[in-house]
Amino acid sequence: MGAPLIQSALHPAGIQAARIEHLWWVMFWVCSVVFVAVVVAMGIAVVRGRGAASSASEATLARSVAIAVGLSIVALLVLLTEGELVGRGVASLREQDPNALRIQITGNQWWWDVQYLNPNPSLIVTTANEIHIPVGRPVGIVLRSNDVIHSLWIPALHGKRDLIPGRVTEIWLQADRAGFYRGQCAEFCGLQHAKMALGVVADLPDDFERWLTQMRSPAPAPTTPSQTRGKDVVERGPCAMCHTVVGTLAGGRTAPDLTHIASRSSIGAGSLPNTRGNLGGWIVDPQHVKPGNHMPAPGLSSEEVQPLLDYLETLK
Ligand code: CUA
Repeated sequence: MGAPLIQSALHPAGIQAARIEHLWWVMFWVCSVVFVAVVVAMGIAVVRGRGAASSASEATLARSVAIAVGLSIVALLVLLTEGELVGRGVASLREQDPNALRIQITGNQWWWDVQYLNPNPSLIVTTANEIHIPVGRPVGIVLRSNDVIHSLWIPALHGKRDLIPGRVTEIWLQADRAGFYRGQCAEFCGLQHAKMALGVVADLPDDFERWLTQMRSPAPAPTTPSQTRGKDVVERGPCAMCHTVVGTLAGGRTAPDLTHIASRSSIGAGSLPNTRGNLGGWIVDPQHVKPGNHMPAPGLSSEEVQPLLDYLETLK
């Protein structure tokens, strides 16, 4: 992944996040002015109080309190109005564009299951932990959870939204610039909450269509004896009980879909860069990098792991 990785609410890449950034700066400046005013008033009170403890008249005190109350009300009204306007602006993408892309993201301890929805079931794409979206097109993301409460936060594109078991929620976002935007689970959801990242690649529309077409294809057939052996390990070893590789006998649905794992930039939901060494280390001892995750050590021999890696590397 050559593009710089952005994970900042102060570097918005879409209109939703830009509105939230605007609100952030309004709150920052209002609160800064209030803070400075309070410190200055306190300083004046300390300096004056030494000499003339009760020289101020009742009328002067009453006027000061009235001014302070008035300014507080104005500051709170500004924040309330801005908050309301930004809230409406952020929600306004909802009614637009019938051509919007629809994605369903399901939170799991500690990874994201992703489905690109389509009325035609044969065109649904399943992947995990890294999504691609087209620049300039609204994206509706349906959010669910399979276990505990998670929260999806892609700071460069939108604010946080909780994923709650038994309840379906939805956010709408749009990327206006191509780039790689890192999202993060923002609700403590257990031991490996910190290692629950979601990569968001915003592609130019043609690149996105190419990617989506690629994702709709099944896993390529192995072309070397070692890759063939690796596919055999996937199908007959423990992998197939939890993972799916479309086009093979592996159809487990409780762990990330691996049909195109080689096209993703990281493994373990953003835990490690997706290199052969990291993938091998993960497979041999999944509990080392991410203790508590639901993948048990598969107990494969090195004669099985090397062909398995040869095969997994073809799953582009
Ligand atoms: Cu999922 Cu924190």
